Amino acid sequence: MDTLTPKQIVEQLDNYIIGQTDAKKAVAIALYNRYRRLQVPEKLQQEITPKNLLMIGPTGVGKTEIARRLAKIVNAPFVKVEATKFTEVGYVGRDVESMIRDLLSVAVSMVEKEKIEEIRPEVRRDVDKRLVKLLAPGAKKEQKKQTNADFMGMLNDMQEGKNLGSIFGDPDSVDEDPDNNAEVSDEVRNQRLSVKEQLDKGLLEDEEVTIRVEESKKVGPMDDQMGQAGLDMSNMMEQLMPKKTLKRTLPVKEARELLIQQESQKHIDHDEIYQKAIDRVENKGIIFIDEFDKIAAGDKKTSGEVSREGVQRDILPIVEGSRVNTKYGPVDTDHILFIASGAFAESKPSDLIAELQGRFPIRVELQDLTEEDFIQILTKPDNSLTKQYVALTRADGIHLTFTKESVEEIAKIAFELNNSNQNIGARRLSTVLEKILADILYEGPDMQMGDITITREYVREQVGKIAADQDLSRYIL
Ligand SMILES: Nc1ncnc2c1ncn2[C@@H]1O[C@H](COP(=O)(O)OP(=O)(O)OP(=O)(O)O)[C@@H](O)[C@H]1O
Ligand SMILES: [Mg+2]
Repeated sequence: MDTLTPKQIVEQLDNYIIGQTDAKKAVAIALYNRYRRLQVPEKLQQEITPKNLLMIGPTGVGKTEIARRLAKIVNAPFVKVEATKFTEVGYVGRDVESMIRDLLSVAVSMVEKEKIEEIRPEVRRDVDKRLVKLLAPGAKKEQKKQTNADFMGMLNDMQEGKNLGSIFGDPDSVDEDPDNNAEVSDEVRNQRLSVKEQLDKGLLEDEEVTIRVEESKKVGPMDDQMGQAGLDMSNMMEQLMPKKTLKRTLPVKEARELLIQQESQKHIDHDEIYQKAIDRVENKGIIFIDEFDKIAAGDKKTSGEVSREGVQRDILPIVEGSRVNTKYGPVDTDHILFIASGAFAESKPSDLIAELQGRFPIRVELQDLTEEDFIQILTKPDNSLTKQYVALTRADGIHLTFTKESVEEIAKIAFELNNSNQNIGARRLSTVLEKILADILYEGPDMQMGDITITREYVREQVGKIAADQDLSRYIL
């Protein structure tokens, strides 16, 4: 099975998100339902539309964090977009359909990567053969000298539109196949055998070779616009312009990777990749729309701004199911899963236009975080704030440790500040921690601090000065 069960998804999220069990479960079920649907007979599949999810909860309690983590654990095309980025059709800005195009781009790279992995052993064999030749080239043949007599011939060639490069010759050229203008003597052949053996054993990985690499293509600003019209602009340009190649000298291990990437492209049927990617987007794609509350018209005094309701009306058909043109072909959005999320502090879900509300039947609320949650957030995740600071100060040769009591104190202070000032959730932890560590972060590089233990007393001392003054703490913590 290529998908995680709901329980496994929650377990994965548990590594990073503290609390919020309901939200994690709801998301996990929604994700797993995609898999369930694909197991039923195809005719019925069409009838089963995804139950889109709306996550609601105060600021700084993990909504966006869940999305960020999901991106890493779902084995499906996934994009996270901010509703605030979109503007109504006809206005300057991103139109809502761009989220489908983004999703498809993700799917295309995903499918392409899988394909490259699949053919890798075969391609690698070819590439290694080439590397052997580059490491043990044959003796160069005498290059033909250009003489005056050739000049007329050259003009003739020019008139016939022949490739000039071949006439002028390129003294620096590195041939695709070094054998093209080299003689392979028995000696060279033997040499190559031994080079091959060494290469296979991994002994030549740091040896340098010079290869030609194709310049990576640049995506022009027009690309997105043209995508809307279903045109593949960059591809069209690419076909019009000659491919530029650059000469690079690299260690074997890096050269091999580049050559494998380059060589794989020749073995890949791109139309097949695009078709597969579209299919995957249509059946497994997930779009996380963050800041969804910002397009709900809470107050009506938004004239002059881009209409929020307009954006909602543009989003509606995509969520309901429609056909979106992309440069790879049309995409049906009927079965794409949407997870929307927002604090809904100044607006309510019921401020959304009714049709859109109806498209997000599953609502789940995230809870305010407790002091105990703060302690966990500070210490438990692999990337927790305290772990980050411990790692960062290592750069100054500092060995930082936090006592259990100091962490409790930080959590307590953050919690109280949230109550007395504005509740900004777990974001408060970083502002508090930054203040506590300010002296160490400032002086660390100039002093040999060695081992530093952050104690409860130290925390109190650092924060005490500021926290005592309500007005001051409002701005600083
Ligand atoms: N439940 C949690 N578990 C672990 N870390 C959390 C949690 N909630 C918040 N955090 C931390 O706080 C930061 C802010 O949280 P996040 O971006 O998820 O807020 P949000 O719920 O999206 O708020 P907003 O509505 O303002 O966008 C995160 O980067 C994360 O480090
Ligand atoms: Mg957020």
